[in-house]
Amino acid sequence: MEKNQKIPASPHAEGANPEAALTSGARQGVELLRDPHLNKGTAFSTRERQELKLEGLLPFVVEGIEEQVQRVMKHLSLKPNDLERYIYMIGLLDRNETLFFKVLMSDPARFVPIMYDPTVGEACLKFSDIYRRNGGMYVTIENKGRVKDILRNWPEKDVRFICVSTGGRILGLGDLGANGMGIPLGKLQLYTACAAVPPNNLLPLLLDCGTDNEQLLKNPLYIGVRRHRPEVKELDAFVQEFVDAVQEVFPGCCIHFEDWKGTDAIRLLKRYQDKICCYNDDIQGTAGVAVAGLIGAMNITGGKLSEQRVLMFGAGSAGIGISNMITAAMQAEGLSNKDAAARIALFDVNGLLTKGRTDLSAEQSVYAVTGNPTKDLVSAIRTLKPTVLIGVSTVGKTFTREVVQAMTEQTERPVVFALSNPTDHAECSAQEAYEWSNGKAIYAAGVPFEEVKIGGKVFIPGQANNYYLFPGVSLGIYAAKPKLIPDALWIEGARALADLVTPQQREKGMVFPPQKDILSISTNIAERVAKMAFDKGLAQEKKPKDMGAFIRELQYQPAYSKNVKS
Ligand code: NAI
Repeated sequence: MEKNQKIPASPHAEGANPEAALTSGARQGVELLRDPHLNKGTAFSTRERQELKLEGLLPFVVEGIEEQVQRVMKHLSLKPNDLERYIYMIGLLDRNETLFFKVLMSDPARFVPIMYDPTVGEACLKFSDIYRRNGGMYVTIENKGRVKDILRNWPEKDVRFICVSTGGRILGLGDLGANGMGIPLGKLQLYTACAAVPPNNLLPLLLDCGTDNEQLLKNPLYIGVRRHRPEVKELDAFVQEFVDAVQEVFPGCCIHFEDWKGTDAIRLLKRYQDKICCYNDDIQGTAGVAVAGLIGAMNITGGKLSEQRVLMFGAGSAGIGISNMITAAMQAEGLSNKDAAARIALFDVNGLLTKGRTDLSAEQSVYAVTGNPTKDLVSAIRTLKPTVLIGVSTVGKTFTREVVQAMTEQTERPVVFALSNPTDHAECSAQEAYEWSNGKAIYAAGVPFEEVKIGGKVFIPGQANNYYLFPGVSLGIYAAKPKLIPDALWIEGARALADLVTPQQREKGMVFPPQKDILSISTNIAERVAKMAFDKGLAQEKKPKDMGAFIRELQYQPAYSKNVKS
């Protein structure tokens, strides 16, 4: 077998060693071609075809994986839209896993919008209708009391990550119940596509607790448990059983919570963050990418994060999550928790969050300021003099010319991030931010925007996409096996990400490195995160001498197990 190669175990085969399966004769003929973990299709060599009873079952030609990739690309180009491309790619995964990842890893930035956001949202909406074959596990509330036994049905024993969703809040689409399975599947594919985390160690899981989506409950083809969601107490007891079962069946496994209902997500992260190896990408990953953008902006201005005054426009889950992570990052630069929080103010649909307001949650109250309430953003900017304005309000066009100009009046290089998505929800476009600030604003958005030319100068707006960070952080976790994942690891990942922007790119206003480099970006992030996990005494692996080499050795290579042209 080629060096570094990790080929997933077959859910149908014994053990994880495909080489053994190929040579021992455990799988032969049609059975072998039907096993996506072992199948090479036309890449089986003449000798393999003779030895493995494949003669006559394949056309004459013996191809290399590159030629197979070309054919896949041709098929994809003939598909009318991304949902059809998604369905085709899932079909490919069911036939030939190595080829699937070879294609995905050939250009992750191109494939993320097909395999994940936004196409996966549409796929989840139609998941019950387009359902063909299962790629992960469904553990249902009907399995209460037996979760441990059910987890043992998964054929791979060395599970290092479980991405688990209840389908409670899928992207911006609300409660999609068991249809949400597209999310853990897609998210874990990005671990491999963007960071080369070996797919055989990844388990996508839908914790099916029912749904409150009446349309789904009425759909005769709905694949999930046909009941309403449980009360918090029942849900939490079931989650506790699941968490305990994971510790026992897959010791050392990291639980990645994804797309749970907001309140469940916050409560459960609080409960488990200091007890087990777990994270929530919607909360920590999102906030980490925003912090990376801010550090990227500081790398342009030469300022320190802990010297900034931040105004968060939107005080929902994203606004609070980002504020908390900025607070932690400022503390890491030496501020007290109180002084850091005092540098952040929030604004919501009812105006500035002030101490006099009675409608604030405990999380929001931390950031309430003294002073007069106002519903006018421009006036809040003039009073508070923020150097950073972050839009997470879900409302487009709210950063008007006056807002951007007010930011420019008091700061030489104001940071203006318009993170709400989709595109028509962005608080302002890249063109608007650069134009209204005369090219002074350092801008990033939640969606991609084209480069902008102002007065002969080119500006390249950043996109705060979560896949910049969670695959790399996860690879670092894979390497170091930390007991816990404190925010400090996310902040280190964010710093590593921001540091990868070159001086030439900073010149163009870039706060993130180019997405096309995601594999090397993730590898760099992983190295820094793993190193910090060791430095903080969290790692459970033996410390390697050369962290970079150690991580590269662990990474998955999408290559067949033998010389296909032998
Ligand atoms: P949410 O619904 O929990 O919070 C929205 C907040 O905006 C609330 O505090 C609300 O009062 C406030 N708001 C609504 N209308 C407003 C108005 N006219 N003026 C001022 N404030 C107003 O939503 P969540 O989950 O916090 O997400 C917010 C946005 O951030 C979404 O569009 C989401 O797509 C985007 N987002 C982008 C990310 C990224 O770029 N990586 C990551 C996470 C979220």
